[in-house]
Amino acid sequence: MKILIVASEAIPFVKTGGLADVMGTLIREIRNLKVDARLALPLYRGIKDRFDLNDTGHEITVPVGNKNYTAKIFSYKDSVFFIECNEFFDREELYGTSEGDYPDNAHRFIFFSRAVLEACDALGFKPDVLHCNDWQTGLIPLYVKSIYKKSFSKTATVMTIHNLGYQGIFPASAMLLTGLDMELFTPKTIEFYGQINLLKAGITTADFVTTVSTNYAKEILSEQYGFGLDGVLRHRAHDITGIINGIDYKEWNPAEDDLIPAKFDVRDITGKAKCKSYLVKECSFKNRKAPLVGMVGRLSSQKGIDIFMGVIDRIFSYGVNVIILGKGEEAIHKELRGIAKKYPDCLSLNIGYDETFAHRVYAGSDMLLIPSKYEPCGLTQMIAMRYGTVPVARATGGIADTVEDYNHLSGKGTGFLFTEYSSSALEECLKRAICVYTDETKWKKIVINCMRQRFSWEKSAKEYVALYRKLVRKVTG
Ligand code: ADP
Ligand code: GLC
Repeated sequence: MKILIVASEAIPFVKTGGLADVMGTLIREIRNLKVDARLALPLYRGIKDRFDLNDTGHEITVPVGNKNYTAKIFSYKDSVFFIECNEFFDREELYGTSEGDYPDNAHRFIFFSRAVLEACDALGFKPDVLHCNDWQTGLIPLYVKSIYKKSFSKTATVMTIHNLGYQGIFPASAMLLTGLDMELFTPKTIEFYGQINLLKAGITTADFVTTVSTNYAKEILSEQYGFGLDGVLRHRAHDITGIINGIDYKEWNPAEDDLIPAKFDVRDITGKAKCKSYLVKECSFKNRKAPLVGMVGRLSSQKGIDIFMGVIDRIFSYGVNVIILGKGEEAIHKELRGIAKKYPDCLSLNIGYDETFAHRVYAGSDMLLIPSKYEPCGLTQMIAMRYGTVPVARATGGIADTVEDYNHLSGKGTGFLFTEYSSSALEECLKRAICVYTDETKWKKIVINCMRQRFSWEKSAKEYVALYRKLVRKVTG
């Protein structure tokens, strides 16, 4: 069985968020199961300088609208191939700047989706399953069922939704770029309120749809979480399943992490206190003993920054220190900068993407605040737990599947959860956590509970492989 996973980012090559972690780790885990899985990615700026890529010598021609683009195919260790087209991918960022998306994103990812299929032909690699991820690859299942039907008649397609909040919606005129028959511009396929919607195309035409947690697989069928596609998803409800992400336990390991000032493990957590002292000094907090609340993530409306900012004064009235590490929308940066000026002694604002610092925040914080409006899976709560940092989070999507709310009577639990999306619910929850924090014995028990959790990839990778096998049987009849 040959599998091709297609995505717009993957570690160790390029990353803006959890999608990259998941793609990079999933491919490795599936290959560990002795399945021939490969990964296709765009060749972004800088990858060639950092990795020893092999020029396959293959060149492909990819029509987009009325223009033909030439692309080169590079490979890395025979398991990853890259599509090079500098006009589209030799840029500072992946999808856009903090001011907004690149205006030619339709062009870029229509090109990429089609290029992947052309590259399969050129390389003579005919996958049994094409596993597509998020809107950037949503056109592939539709291409496989239309323009590329003949050459991929025995290929099954899987569409994985990592985030329904991003769908790749473009003006109807972008239909001309796809080269698809205008007859396909219907609500049943790609049309979405008069525009085209690339993720919708994937959802309506893939042989199977998955998402990244069991709870999110249910949530997206509702109007509240469906982002306008809940009807389409309900229609396909029998072909949708949730497979929870894992984290890479080698990369995230406090016992062997060279990026943190002191190592520790579940048998001896004294190193964690050292990590905290170091971090508190690094951030110049005045009160060095206060509970330390970390936040790591993309600064987008998804992450619930608004309900956090809505209650900021009250949060600081409880005497906590807060570290924020994130990058995203300019409007959020601006507002946070204003708040940081007001609280120089207890708020450390770090706008930017910094992997090393992220390790230190996970290791040194007491709690990780994740007030997400929605969270398909979420990796930060799992990483935090691995480092004995207790999640204080909204019980949505994968967070509800992976964090158990602390039970005061039984002492069971791995975090503090709230349900209502509001500043007051967040405040109550954080207050509850801070109260328990003052009881050292109880808190230590939660920390240990967290560190004992295992969200490893092994089980989930096996679920993907079982799904691939099922689909291959179906397609080959
Ligand atoms: P999402 O995919 O929605 O961004 P996840 O929780 O699934 O959220 O994954 C986020 C990943 O990106 C985690 O590995 C987290 O550590 C990392 N990350 C997010 N923002 C930053 C940042 N500013 N610096 C370093 N790492 C970050
Ligand atoms: C998305 C989601 C996040 C998920 C990640 C990887 O970007 O926002 O919840 O963990 O994809 O699947």
